[in-house]
Amino acid sequence: MPTVEYLNFDVLEDQGWDMDDDDLFEKAADAGLDAEDYGTLEVNRGEYILESAEAQGYDWPFSCRAGACANCAAIVKQGEIEMDMQQILSDDEVEEKNVRLTCIGTPETDEVQIVYNAKHLDYLQNRVI
Ligand code: FES
Repeated sequence: MPTVEYLNFDVLEDQGWDMDDDDLFEKAADAGLDAEDYGTLEVNRGEYILESAEAQGYDWPFSCRAGACANCAAIVKQGEIEMDMQQILSDDEVEEKNVRLTCIGTPETDEVQIVYNAKHLDYLQNRVI
């Protein structure tokens, strides 16, 4: 079953880390963070990452649950997430910035690393409900 390693975007701001840091997840693993902010989820292929996080008792941001806002956005740092039809992100955001919507996103590779709660990124602000 694919493993999704997650990190809360709020932690980047608190720690002064950058989304582009190559060792972001190594630093996160060593920082003694709460399970809510950093950890791993087992997510079946075809299962949505947001739902899996909720099933584990985590409270990740969302609004529409249908690929039409940016509340559930995450940045993929490693691996690949496949999305159902979405109408809110630009090609550049998906292909260059690696933004994915967790409400309609499922792991495509066995290991995925994501920074969730990415709705706080400046360029997504105009699409957060
Ligand atoms: S919650 Fe709106 S796109 Fe995921």
